[in-house]
This record gives sequence, structure tokens and C-alpha cells, in this order.
Amino acid sequence: MDPHADRPAPAETGEAPRDRALFDLLDAEAERQRDGLELIASENFVSDAVREATGSVLTNKYAEGYPGRRYYGGCEVVDEVERLAQRRLNDLFGSTWCNVQPHSGSSANMAVFRALLKPGDLVMGMDLDQGGHLTHGSPVNFSGQDYRIVGYPVDPETERLDMDTVRELAREHRPKMIIAGASAYSRILDFEAFRSVADEVGALLVADVAHIAGLIAAELHPNPVPHAHVVTSTTHKTLRGPRSGVIFGRDAELGKKIDRAVFPGQQGGPLMHVVAAKAVAFLEAAQPDFRTYARRVIDGAQALATSLSEHGLRIVSGGTDNHCFVVDLRPSGMTGKTADARLGRVGITVSKSMVPNDPEKPWVTSGIRLGTPALATRGFGPVAMREVGDLIAEALRTPDEAPEAEVASLRERVRTLARRHPMP
Ligand SMILES: Cc1ncc(COP(=O)(O)O)c(C=O)c1O
Repeated sequence: MDPHADRPAPAETGEAPRDRALFDLLDAEAERQRDGLELIASENFVSDAVREATGSVLTNKYAEGYPGRRYYGGCEVVDEVERLAQRRLNDLFGSTWCNVQPHSGSSANMAVFRALLKPGDLVMGMDLDQGGHLTHGSPVNFSGQDYRIVGYPVDPETERLDMDTVRELAREHRPKMIIAGASAYSRILDFEAFRSVADEVGALLVADVAHIAGLIAAELHPNPVPHAHVVTSTTHKTLRGPRSGVIFGRDAELGKKIDRAVFPGQQGGPLMHVVAAKAVAFLEAAQPDFRTYARRVIDGAQALATSLSEHGLRIVSGGTDNHCFVVDLRPSGMTGKTADARLGRVGITVSKSMVPNDPEKPWVTSGIRLGTPALATRGFGPVAMREVGDLIAEALRTPDEAPEAEVASLRERVRTLARRHPMP
């Protein structure tokens, strides 16, 4: 049976037959992305070149192993692709060793845990409700299940990390590994101070720069490579590459252990089409205009935070130094879930987020996290972000039971603003 039978024959349309059920959904998603305001801090819109590489013939190729040491034949081309990705990543961040095979940020972190620790070892990471990530020790994740975890908090007054507190906790518990990194933290991470804490207690320092990698590449956030024993990252957030992960650093001996933990320890064949797309993204991030882009990301986030504060919303820690921030909705009497729904119905996409010491469950939350990497790719700068701030404030004020016409008019204004800024 022809699986494409529900498409008109090519002779009638002049185009190749395709799977209508699936490709109509892709068209619907393209429209949703184009007509909405995408403020999820961990999303971005990749270039045509990244998409082309992701959809390339390399998806056909098995390549278990590493360049020059594969378990399959026919790897001479993909060997060069992987070496190119490695060279470009090392050039971008100043590392001397890297692994570009992890399928995601979580699998990069899992490989590091497995390479450097034994089950039951003690790890320090930022608590999830303080801004940390699941893979930094949450009890519902492998990290919190297979290892003992001590969480570090943000300061209850400033809602920023206090390195004296981190140091005291480390001295008290003497972890084997400390993770410096976050998913919902809007301030600069002081990797040098983290390293001094790690050295004092004999711990390994792992920096997880999943969110801020693009800002580091653009030299708008301190680079952890000179300080951390190992760095992990995703490639799809501020770095604007395909959905994936990487691990890098300057310690070749640790690198060897991590290579073995990725393959054969944890993964089979690498996704070579995604490795190719990572190579494209690393080259793009090395261009001067990427720095202009990253500046726009930060300026836009600061303009949006200011606009929302002026509309009476409370920003956790009072503002942002990077691409994102969390809005604490408790003073407005709303939960993250309500706010997410009110914004979503007019085409503004955000994620619910815990605020420090959140009384609500993770599915409800007291906050929302906003980020500008995706809109900055469409050219939204500080002026346009203030307009976005006005629309967000209005959408949040519009009650759930508001007449549909009111909601539709707001949705139309969102669409008009979005369409003024072309997709890449
Ligand atoms: C700090 C941090 N580390 C790791 C990850 C995991 O990345 P992935 O979703 O690709 O597994 C994320 C994703 O949000 C993150 O924010």
C-alpha cells in the first residue's frame, strides 16, 4: 500500500507525494511559531543551514565509535564531519577536548555523572525550585535517585547565589562533585568562585551552561572553561543549534573517561545529521553578527523585565543579566498555571516556573519564566520587547471569563507584532 496515497498524484500537482497527515501538522506548527510570541527561555529558531544539515543524508549513517575508530564501514565522510564539529566547538569555547555525540543536555549530564562518580557519591547542585535543573539532583531524576544530593539555594533576600553559603555547605558535606549551572536563574554565574570552593573540598567542578552557552560564545557571560573540570551544554537554546548536547573541557584524562561513558557506556550510534548541524551552529556562533544577536538577547530581556516591573509584576532578584528571568506571580494573586493559560490563548508562549521556596507544586507553580533568545532571532530588540511587555501585562489582566472578542483582539495584536518580524 502506498503510504502517501492520500496526497494528490505528482502529475496533477507537480510536486512530490507526501504524507498529508504528518506534513499538515508540520505546516500548522510552522504557522503557530510564525504567528506567536515565543518566550520560552530554552527555545530558539535555527537557521536554514542548521535545518538543512539536520534533515540531511547523514540520518542514513550508522557510526558507532569515534572518528578513526568506528564499528561500521563507510565512515570516512562522517569522520570528517565529527572532526569539524569538534574543532569548531573547541575554537568557540577555548576547550582542548570535547565530545559532540550526546543526544541531549540530559544525556550529556548523565555521561558525566557515570564517568566521574560511583552510585551513592555525594553531589552538590542548585535545588530545582531555586532555579536548578532536574539532572542536578532532583529526586524524580536519575541524578537524585542514583547519587546522594545536597542542594544549594539562592539567598532568600537577594534571590541571587551567595557563594559564602555554597562554600559553607560544601565544607559541611564535602561533595565529590559540584554542579554550577541553572535553568531559571537570571544572574551571572561566578565559575571562578565555584572552582575555589571545589578546590577547597577536593571536589570536581562541572559547569552546565545549557542555557547560557550562546552568551558565553559571544563573550557576554564569563566562560567556565578555564575554571571547570568539565563543561556540559545543550546546543539548542541561546547557542541556536539543533536539539542536542555536548561535553567539553581542558582535561584530556577526564575526557577519555567521558568518551567511554558516552559510547559504549550510554549511547549507541551518534546522530550524525545532528552532529553535522551542531558543526554548522558552532560556525555561526563564531561570526561577529552572533555577538550582535547575543547583545540583543540580553538587552531585550532587560527591557522586558523593566516593562513588566513597570506594569506592577515582581521579577525574581529584581532583574536579569542574561537571556531570561522569572516573574513571581504571588503578589498578583495568580499561579504560573493560570498565567501560562492566559498568555497561551493569545499566542504568547512561556513556561511555568517555580519561584524560590515555591509553595505550589511543579505542575502549578507560582511563577513563569520568560526568555528572549527566540524573539531576538526574529529581530526583536529592546523597543519591540517593551511592546511585548505591554501585551503580556494586558493578557494577564484579562480574566479567564473575558468575552471571546476581547481575547481575539489581543490575539490579533500579538499576531501583527509577530508578523512584523520575519522568521529566519
Ligand atoms: C541547565 C540545564 N541542563 C540540562 C538540560 C537538559 O537538556 P535536554 O532537555 O536537552 O535534555 C537543560 C534543559 O532545559 C537545562 O536547562
